[in-house]
Amino acid sequence: MKEKILITGANGQLGTVLTDSLRQVFGLENVVATDLHPPTAQTGMYATLDATDTKALRTLIKKFGITQIYHMAAILSAKGEQDPVRTWDLNMSSFFCVLEAARTMGIQKVFFPSSIAVFGKNAPKTNTSQFTYCDAGTAYGISKIAGENWALYYYEKYGLDVRSVRYPGVISHQSLPGGGTTDYAVAIFHHALQKQSYDCYLKKDTILPMIYIDDAIRATLELMDAPANQLRIRTSYNLAGMSFSPEALAAEIKNHLPDFQINYTPDSRQKIADQWPQSIDDQYAREDWGWKSKFDLANMVSAMVNHLKPLQQLNTQL
Ligand SMILES: NC(=O)c1ccc[n+]([C@@H]2O[C@H](COP(=O)([O-])OP(=O)(O)OC[C@H]3O[C@@H](n4cnc5c(N)ncnc54)[C@H](O)[C@@H]3O)[C@@H](O)[C@H]2O)c1
Repeated sequence: MKEKILITGANGQLGTVLTDSLRQVFGLENVVATDLHPPTAQTGMYATLDATDTKALRTLIKKFGITQIYHMAAILSAKGEQDPVRTWDLNMSSFFCVLEAARTMGIQKVFFPSSIAVFGKNAPKTNTSQFTYCDAGTAYGISKIAGENWALYYYEKYGLDVRSVRYPGVISHQSLPGGGTTDYAVAIFHHALQKQSYDCYLKKDTILPMIYIDDAIRATLELMDAPANQLRIRTSYNLAGMSFSPEALAAEIKNHLPDFQINYTPDSRQKIADQWPQSIDDQYAREDWGWKSKFDLANMVSAMVNHLKPLQQLNTQL
């Protein structure tokens, strides 16, 4: 069967790179990117779509004969705390639009990105397991754990093939993050290259789980490609990449940029980070669909510097 794919939130940090990867795998003519606003660069089929607009979503599914939906649109953790009710409302209503359209219109597979934000104060901090307390302490985390349970519900009640991973903080060079608590791990590279210094909003010893974009995208594609009968987790799979603190990241960046200096001015995001695990046990992902991360702190930093440095040099020349 020829797959036709629709992505919501395609202009975001993950959506941008996921769209490119899906176009490489399935062909330009089989991937429709959607978001609230047009993209800055247009490379394939695109439609403006508010993911909470059921009617517009259904029209696009029908028009393009969509078979798979990757639902990336959401308000993330730090931004979400500025308006918790809107965050819950948008994250849930957009997911329901997708689930109901998928259920009633014969969509074969749905991807729902969850997050390590589902874990709260009572989850063990290290090697946090698949099945532990999910007492999320942010509106964002609460919406993600609810979404996971709805994914399971639609799978068990209607047989809808919804698949999901709990992404750690994603580090990418192609696109900027959109309001998460782990955004510092991307911003630090841009500041290091432009100004040789960075004022970090987390304390220096705040260890969080992170993942490099190549691993995050590969995990998504591998999970979506796995045989359905191998998948034991129908809420969302724990997924691990690497774990580090701002201090450890800064030290690694200094190996590439010796003049780099970092300061620490913790703000409200520290409280969110303090609730989250430091490292994740992704045993089920490894066993069920062969997941294995490739990027650790050292090769992630090399990759980020190698990608961003030429752009920085180009900007200074202009
Ligand atoms: N980036 C991370 O570190 C991370 C970690 C864990 C989970 N996730 C999840 O992955 C998904 C993608 O994250 P991201 O980092 O790309 O987020 P992002 O904030 O960079 O992008 C989200 C996109 O959704 C769009 N959007 C917002 N409201 C919309 C609406 N009503 N209709 C259509 N589009 C709308 C925005 O315009 C934006 O382009 C999200 O569901 C997020 O919760 C991300």
